[in-house]
Amino acid sequence: MRESTPVVVIGAGPAGLTLANLLRLAGVGCVVLERQSRSHVARRQRAGVLDYASTRIFEEWGLAETLLAGMPEDRVLEIRVDGEPHLLDMRALSGGRTGRAIPQQVLVARLMAAFLDGGGDLRFDAGEVTPHDLDGTAPKVTYRDADGTLHEIACDYIAGCDGYHGVTRESVPAEAMTTYSYDHGIGWFTVLADAPPPRRPLFAISAHGFAAQFPRGPAACRLYLECAPDDMPADWNDDRVWEQSRLRLGDDALPTGPITDKAVVEMRSFVVDPMRYGRLFLVGDAAHIITPMGGKGMNLAIADADVLARALRAAVHDGDEEPLAAYSATCLRRVWNQQEFSRWLTELTHEAGDSALAGTFRRQLARARLDRLFASGPAGRAFADLMAGG
Ligand code: APR
Repeated sequence: MRESTPVVVIGAGPAGLTLANLLRLAGVGCVVLERQSRSHVARRQRAGVLDYASTRIFEEWGLAETLLAGMPEDRVLEIRVDGEPHLLDMRALSGGRTGRAIPQQVLVARLMAAFLDGGGDLRFDAGEVTPHDLDGTAPKVTYRDADGTLHEIACDYIAGCDGYHGVTRESVPAEAMTTYSYDHGIGWFTVLADAPPPRRPLFAISAHGFAAQFPRGPAACRLYLECAPDDMPADWNDDRVWEQSRLRLGDDALPTGPITDKAVVEMRSFVVDPMRYGRLFLVGDAAHIITPMGGKGMNLAIADADVLARALRAAVHDGDEEPLAAYSATCLRRVWNQQEFSRWLTELTHEAGDSALAGTFRRQLARARLDRLFASGPAGRAFADLMAGG
């Protein structure tokens, strides 16, 4: 089976689905190939916050109403230190640039529906997806459908939106990209629970170890608990999860509920430079991963998709390849800014509590940084600015 399209998008996570929608709105034809089934993609629960920059992207493309209806604003962040609450008014500190709390699977379901309702071509269960001839002028992608039929799609550009473990980055010669990676030296254990969510996103700092609790819709929450880097989910039975949560959040009356998912999060960062090879453009996790601290993974993917959609529109409609030439550098500036923010926040929140991690001197430094964050307007505004993204 042979066919052609201007752009093949590989992967239908937040990056691929955002890009596919923006390309459709830009009048650029594309085919999306996803390895998994539709129900698998729709069920995957991960991120839960759209920063302000992402909400602006969806507003500018006229998608905000479709995608964000009913999703609450993230107005206040609580940082609880040794059980004492400090409320950061993110709305005021950011000059009104607040994000939205939206479970990833809700956003993904709405992106899928919007693309398919608009006549988009999204193919699930695509096996053996392989990009070819990336460095020439006529790339193509082959894949095998669920019935075993081999397909070949000729295209002008390929968007690698297939996540960290995808096939597109692997198809680039190693010497064509520089890789940066960093192990943050801590572990995070995370659970999803059908338990009452906190009134606001919450970071908790104490000598018992870092913890965070975030709403995931009206009746569920996600908890993150600092743990040993080599911990396994089996090390955390439900009793230990709730006992440690109560202790670290300083809340003896913390409401509990059934735990629906447990996982150990790899606290690792990774960036490739450039995010392009010939006619292949890497988007989202295919090009960079970031720890969940700061909630930027999904937002970086959406920002990449926006830059690429605009650049592909210029290339396909106007023959102007300059925005495509700038794609990687434009995205990497934002990526490194957010990597730095995420690392800074990780140090702040972990070292301020746990002196075993970095010693008592660094613990005092982290406490001083926290005091500055709570007491100084400019420090609070700089923090809120980074949380807003962009
Ligand atoms: N062929 C086709 N599809 C593939 C292949 C392949 N060989 N390999 C992976 N995929 C698909 C995956 O099944 C998945 O649906 O690509 C998609 C990649 O999605 P994500 O891993 O979610 O990556 P991305 O879209 O960049 O997500 C950005 O959102 O919450 C998050 O943690 C996530 O930080 C990440 C962010």
